[in-house]
Amino acid sequence: MSGDTDTIHAYFDEFVATADNPMVVVTTEAAGRRAGCLVGFTTQVSINPRRFLVGLSKTNNTFRVAAEAEGLAVHLLGAQQLPLARLFGSESGDRIDKFAHCEWYSGPDGLPILAATPGWFTGRIIDRHDLGDHVGVVLEPTAGHMRAESGGVLRFAAVAHLDPGHSA
Ligand SMILES: Cc1cc2nc3c(=O)[nH]c(=O)nc-3n(C[C@H](O)[C@H](O)[C@H](O)COP(=O)(O)O)c2cc1C
Repeated sequence: MSGDTDTIHAYFDEFVATADNPMVVVTTEAAGRRAGCLVGFTTQVSINPRRFLVGLSKTNNTFRVAAEAEGLAVHLLGAQQLPLARLFGSESGDRIDKFAHCEWYSGPDGLPILAATPGWFTGRIIDRHDLGDHVGVVLEPTAGHMRAESGGVLRFAAVAHLDPGHSA
């Protein structure tokens, strides 16, 4: 079905909500500055070689630190980890130190790794693409860890009510 722009946007927004993608927390580090935010815009984009795309909003503190960084860490969240999603999605590193409010350790290439998440990987930034109000950061995986047990991951529907720390 075609229609006016509002109608097309409504179909598109419903499509995205129905897809109910997993949410991740992306962290990074550059010149001694740590940053991280909740991210819904992610996907694998190549098999051989392995490539993963992360969409970072140009308004976010994380975007500004990532612009100077060589890598990102991408964390799945457990279905019960709404407080962690709220910390990284509704607060901004412009106002608080998120890492003072969660458990983390320094991982591969000095990237901050969040403890007690179902799984994470680190990736080297190999490309950046201007996509509009977000920049697409292309990652080559460099390290990772998955926990044996998994009680399901946190998806978009569980966090759709959160107010972002920055408007896109
Ligand atoms: C449901 C939801 C999805 C979000 N998806 C993204 C996203 O895909 N990319 C992004 O850069 N920010 C996304 N955000 C916004 C950031 O997580 C949020 O603005 C955060 O407070 C930015 O923190 P920072 O300024 O410390 O980087 C999302 C927020 C919410 C609540």
